[in-house]
Amino acid sequence: MLVFTNKNKIGTHVTALKEEGTKIGFVPTMGALHQGHMSLIKEGLLNNGVMVVSIFVNPTQFDNADDLKKYPRTLEEDVALLKTVSPNIIVYAPSVDDIYEGNTVAQHFSFDGLEFEMEGRFRKGHFDGVGTIVKRLFEIVAPDNAYFGEKDFQQLTIIKKLVSKYHLGVNIVGCKIHREANGLAMSSRNVRLKPDYKIAAPFIYKTLQEAQIKFGTKSATIVTQWVEQQFVNHDILELEYFIIADVDTLKTVKRKHKTNTYRAFIAVYAGDIRLIDNIALN
Ligand code: PAJ
Repeated sequence: MLVFTNKNKIGTHVTALKEEGTKIGFVPTMGALHQGHMSLIKEGLLNNGVMVVSIFVNPTQFDNADDLKKYPRTLEEDVALLKTVSPNIIVYAPSVDDIYEGNTVAQHFSFDGLEFEMEGRFRKGHFDGVGTIVKRLFEIVAPDNAYFGEKDFQQLTIIKKLVSKYHLGVNIVGCKIHREANGLAMSSRNVRLKPDYKIAAPFIYKTLQEAQIKFGTKSATIVTQWVEQQFVNHDILELEYFIIADVDTLKTVKRKHKTNTYRAFIAVYAGDIRLIDNIALN
């Protein structure tokens, strides 16, 4: 398997593949690969001749230095796992310098307000960091199709906005959330959950499923209050936010409209580990 660490080298390689008529799919990741990432890569393999997977823990999207330091880095295992999936995968695992050229700062973006909701509210500057890295990666890899998980639904929405605003010419494909058998959304951070937290964490998705049912007959406010109440006395998990939002604007819904589509979003602390999840409501 080809593992590139240099942007010019992967750029030249991909250009040659495209000249031969090979379709290029792309899955940007921060590594510590799990079956959630794999589901994106497998979907991409159905419609592209070659899949590029980037593995890069992007410093500019972390608002917490400790979270960045503790983020799992498992490049060897990641490459070994990818090898078992298909020979048509190429890895791009750059250094911070290959991407940022000595200037590790994020570009500032406007995503028409999408960046101020939910994750943007609780993780300052996060989407400037995500926009910066994804735009750079798109310029380096120049894929035909790029795959993003609904696990990070706000990120997916913002990437679609980034592509349309900057005319990046990449087709963005959203992919379903991949879960453990107990319902917990797969995440690279799950490996850091201590046993008690691991046992408690499926409560997050269970609560989302109950909220989904309640939303059929109750208002967004009532459902939100009900979810908040479920966490008040929880001895292990700490709710950061639960929000029911419109899928297009990501704004918190006050009153339901039959013609709009809604989703519930949640962020929870399990000790010092922050977990996010979401569910379609209608
Ligand atoms: P990372 O958290 O590694 O996720 C890489 C991609 O995998 C994202 O599109 C994410 O939504 C998707 N993903 C993660 N867990 C998933 C799951 N359980 N089911 C389905 N998809 C899942 O998201 C990032 O990295 C970074 O912000 C990145 C886009 C790479 C920019 O640095």
